Amino acid sequence: MQIGTPLSPSATKVMLLGSGELGKEVIIALQRLGVEVIAVDRYTNAPGHQIAHRSHVIDMTDAAALRSLVEIEKPTLIIPEIEAIATDELARIEQDGLAEVIPTARATQLTMNREGIRRLAAETLGISTSKYAFADTFEELQNAVDNIGMPCIVKPVMSSSGKGQSTIKCNEDIQNAWDHAISGGRVKQARIIIEEMIDFDYEITLLTVRSKNTNGEIETSFCEPIGHIQQNGDYVESWQPQRMIEAALARAQEIATAVTSNLGGRGLFGVELFIKGEQVWFSEVSPRPHDTGMVTMITQDQNEFELHARAVLGLPVSTELRTAGASAVIYGNMNEKGIAFDNVEKALALAKTDLRLFGKPEAFERRRMGVALGYADDTDTARQQAKQCASIITPIKK
Ligand SMILES: Nc1ncnc2c1ncn2[C@@H]1O[C@H](COP(=O)(O)OP(=O)(O)OP(=O)(O)O)[C@@H](O)[C@H]1O
Ligand SMILES: [Mg+2]
Repeated sequence: MQIGTPLSPSATKVMLLGSGELGKEVIIALQRLGVEVIAVDRYTNAPGHQIAHRSHVIDMTDAAALRSLVEIEKPTLIIPEIEAIATDELARIEQDGLAEVIPTARATQLTMNREGIRRLAAETLGISTSKYAFADTFEELQNAVDNIGMPCIVKPVMSSSGKGQSTIKCNEDIQNAWDHAISGGRVKQARIIIEEMIDFDYEITLLTVRSKNTNGEIETSFCEPIGHIQQNGDYVESWQPQRMIEAALARAQEIATAVTSNLGGRGLFGVELFIKGEQVWFSEVSPRPHDTGMVTMITQDQNEFELHARAVLGLPVSTELRTAGASAVIYGNMNEKGIAFDNVEKALALAKTDLRLFGKPEAFERRRMGVALGYADDTDTARQQAKQCASIITPIKK
């Protein structure tokens, strides 16, 4: 594996499609290895734009715009950071040999739609998932609720971060769930998934890496499981390692291996799983670094972004855990542009903490603007530290 000189004819060029807080960290990891990085997002001054060699603003769901940018920039690798991309065009770009899509164009197609990845896991691979059904109309939703039972969860098939998601506990909730899902989907398409509510003990993200070993063969390695808490379908806190009984961890790793080897390619995946005793259910997978995995910025020798960068470049990885740790999300708490964060010095005076402020140009009430990190001998203490650090940071209007 060779890496050239950025901004010269020998450059190893990588294009990030999506340049939020996760993309920004991938860019940092790539640049440390001397890669030339082109950051793309739908708005100006996205976090990753601020540090890349070049940046572009395009509608990434616009196939023609995507194609022409790839033809101009000629990256060797394309790393999607978000789901909302013209993935059929990515498949054509891959097929025409213009660039390699990470991990594969097919993986981005399957995971951008809950139906694709759910049918692959449950029907093709025979992995346990919640019971599910799909619906395009209100009547189909009603039938699905009758079959699956209550409580159940409704989500647009194309959505992320909990958008359009709600729980049906009684018949009166069905209409609201329908209305909410239709307004929260990423595309003007009514299709939704109805899922049985799993009464899990806890949920994890199992970061799984497909990288080349020294013989050039692909091997699969796992980070220690990450536990997390979600509110309204969005993560607020995560910690690592999540203690698990051996049988459950073994099953989780089996499922992660089955899913990621089917998706193929190289890179890091965030496999989301629900656990109850020895039982493990597959929920979904990100073919890229996962938001709950930001905790690895303080816990691992190579964090999830460095692992992704190394894996996509064909370099060896180590998933070793250095310490127990935790992350806590910092929200905007207001709808304003160009806000400031007060009390940073007080937050960082707390021992064994660290902070990332993403530099997003505009805050919204529930927009993730930063993350506090903490480490300790045990995850309970680390969680307290991270939460305290996050709570001291005060977003203010400027
Ligand atoms: N079938 C289910 N049973 C129990 N809880 C569920 C189920 N589906 C989702 N949840 C809860 O809602 C959270 C978000 O669901 P899911 O991951 O499907 O949504 P998402 O919009 O893709 O979120 P993100 O993009 O943040 O991963 C889960 O992490 C879990 O806490
Ligand atoms: Mg999820």
